[in-house]
Amino acid sequence: MTELDLLVDFHKNAKRQGPGSTTDTLKALSFIDLDGKKNPKVADIGCGSGAQTMVLAQNINGQITAVDLFPSFLEKLKQEAQTLGLQDKIITLEKSMEDLPFEEEELDIIWSEGAIYNIGFKEGVKQWQKFLKPGGFLAVSEITWLTNTRPNEIESHWNAEYPQIDTASNKIKILEENGFSPVGYFHLPPSSWLKNYYEPMEARFDDFLNKHNNSSVAQSIVEGEKEEIRKYSAYKNYYSYGFYVAKKV
Ligand SMILES: C[S@@+](CC[C@H](N)C(=O)[O-])C[C@H]1O[C@@H](n2cnc3c(N)ncnc32)[C@H](O)[C@@H]1O
Repeated sequence: MTELDLLVDFHKNAKRQGPGSTTDTLKALSFIDLDGKKNPKVADIGCGSGAQTMVLAQNINGQITAVDLFPSFLEKLKQEAQTLGLQDKIITLEKSMEDLPFEEEELDIIWSEGAIYNIGFKEGVKQWQKFLKPGGFLAVSEITWLTNTRPNEIESHWNAEYPQIDTASNKIKILEENGFSPVGYFHLPPSSWLKNYYEPMEARFDDFLNKHNNSSVAQSIVEGEKEEIRKYSAYKNYYSYGFYVAKKV
């Protein structure tokens, strides 16, 4: 198994592959008004095993296309949709977010929780805008600075990991410069990181290491995650996922 295979294996048995919560998804959804539109078409990009896809399917009366690069996440998502009786509302699509097959102005909502960084916020906003109908909505969560200045350790870490990390005002500017009008913003609270993501992750470390015979690659994945948790615990006042909801002008 390559390191990537191991990473997917580690994350696929989790309820979610990034920070978030049902409350966060519903809060973002509350900013969206489709004016009673019948059967809205929704894409959930970088859906992972679909924690937020299920919430969307339960709360939107339309069809959701759940897109991810990795088939094992989509398999989990399909199983969960079956369990919840949502299989008729969700179609899965194994595709890269850089090469989406939608038509221009096909979609009413583009949703993406904790995933747009894979293409880059700016590139994602620019490329995906054309798939939305005028008046359609983009709802994305994206790593965001909560303050204008922060300690060197965390600033240099994130600038190396993801140079597009920025403050909400700068992210909103990108939305405005690319044909969107912002309708809502909030950032995820610590419980969405700790209770919903890092604590369940910590509980999987031992099983994951045993399953892979304590291989050096498995150990380095666990050490990497532990370091990520340490940084979050130390610096959670300085960054979070910002949730941006914007309407296509
Ligand atoms: C941090 S996870 C978030 C998953 C899910 N939205 C959640 O919040 O639980 C990022 C997701 O993006 C997916 N991904 C990474 N690169 C991708 C790409 N190029 N195209 C589509 N999905 C991608 C990963 O497989 C993963 O499921």
